[in-house]
Amino acid sequence: SRIRHYKFRVVRKNTTRLCASKPIIVVNGEFPGPTLYAREDDTVIVRVVNHVTDNVTIHWHGVRQLRTGWADGPAYITQCPIQTGQSYVYNFTFTGQRGTLLWHAHINWQRATVHGAIVILPRLGVPYPFPKPHKEEIIILGEWWKADVEAVINQAMRTGLPPNVSDAHTINGLPGPSPNCSSSGYTLHVETGKTYLLRIVSAAVNEELFFKIAGHRLTVVEVDAAYTKPFVTDTIFIGPGQTTTALLAADQPIGKYVIAISPFMDTIVATDNQVATAALRYAGAALLSGSASTAVPARNATPVTTAFEDGLRSLNSPEYPATVPAGAADHSLLLAVGVGVNPCASCVNGTRVVAAVNNVSFVMPATALLQAHYYNVSGVYTADFPAAPVTPYNYTGVAAPANMVTATGTRVYRVGYNSTVQIVVQGTAVIAPESHPMHLHGFNFYTVGKGIGNYDSVNDPKRFNLVDPVERNTISVPTGGWTAIRFRADNPGMWFLHCHLEVHTTWGLKMAILVENGKGPNESILPPPKDLPKC
Ligand code: C2O
Repeated sequence: SRIRHYKFRVVRKNTTRLCASKPIIVVNGEFPGPTLYAREDDTVIVRVVNHVTDNVTIHWHGVRQLRTGWADGPAYITQCPIQTGQSYVYNFTFTGQRGTLLWHAHINWQRATVHGAIVILPRLGVPYPFPKPHKEEIIILGEWWKADVEAVINQAMRTGLPPNVSDAHTINGLPGPSPNCSSSGYTLHVETGKTYLLRIVSAAVNEELFFKIAGHRLTVVEVDAAYTKPFVTDTIFIGPGQTTTALLAADQPIGKYVIAISPFMDTIVATDNQVATAALRYAGAALLSGSASTAVPARNATPVTTAFEDGLRSLNSPEYPATVPAGAADHSLLLAVGVGVNPCASCVNGTRVVAAVNNVSFVMPATALLQAHYYNVSGVYTADFPAAPVTPYNYTGVAAPANMVTATGTRVYRVGYNSTVQIVVQGTAVIAPESHPMHLHGFNFYTVGKGIGNYDSVNDPKRFNLVDPVERNTISVPTGGWTAIRFRADNPGMWFLHCHLEVHTTWGLKMAILVENGKGPNESILPPPKDLPKC
């Protein structure tokens, strides 16, 4: 294993998309940002320097950060932000993971433009558990607003209404070819007969997406830096924060084929139909030939999302076994997630849309939770997060609960080192049922079950897959349904759990899980680095 050094200069840069320019925050002048390459067991040392007037933090999404929570990145959870002119060195090791992840800013809505891919290659000399591709390509999906993104959410918070949807989706930073703006889209170049490994990363802000390539099928081999059984599909469903690595065989007639992404939004408030396109181009294709097009799934194509997710299984081979905690979990949580409405004197309707977990809308503390925990600072949070909704109701029924007002608080759920945890995330229909891509920091978890309707704690667990469930760090909770995950709490620290739709996070759909130190020599969180930012 080796040590790899990176320098991330966070700067503002004027950038043109959709025929208009605006200054955006980026890393090293690049949008999307630079790729972080490493091998399993390598340590990376990333020096992040803040050259903008905004506060900054960087999160290494999906990196386990074993005992190194100080390097995780979510603002006010594991660190105070890096202020203007300051720097912070993120130092961490890739342990037990290989594949594709992403890094992104983790403060306000900065991640809309501050993001990039992480590629963790196998140890030197260790092959992939699938045929070696001819070439590898990184494909980053995103969203673009013509307005400044912080202005978009600030305006929404002032009015109490949902924020504007993005003006375009992007593939490797580009919305697609537009003769009006004399801009071209991204092109993936291939040669007939060869196979390519596509590392697809979703850095989208508020939308889950479908990804398709006309005339081709894809073989998924890894998601969220965990190998899967090869799974052949013509559509990939990917939520913000998720990654999907798939083999593409260039086995079709020489020509040009459309690559398309489109939003999955099955809620009544969906207003976005935008499709972004890129091109798959075979060597030798005629310069001006037209592209074979592809039909994207309907915006509310829930069956397509279900078929994709049900097709994913852990590889579970002798080299890469699935280690699913079996039996009764030490901690069993039912987390009801969704949106509600709170009073707001200064808002247009006198109310504000909020989001919550078990009716608690999380309030960001002024000091990072991990510091408060480590230094025993009281008054920053309480460790009394409810393990189940305090007032149970018919979560997915049409009738909303009598009270849609959420409580507020900075509450965390505490578990002992190495305990086993089962979390059932239950979607709710308080305002409308909606799909939520839930992300847990500090762990990979197994998705042992999911279903539509209200979770049945007696019968549903009988159908859990404890053999080869897919291993992920972000999982979508189906609209009007639930998802169950399991993991072993073998990583001491303060770990954020939130909906990766940024608007839901802003509204309060977030909480933290505190994993206490173990008693063994390598079971406690390491001391903080000296340059850890102060609030
Ligand atoms: Cu990808 Cu808490 O984030």
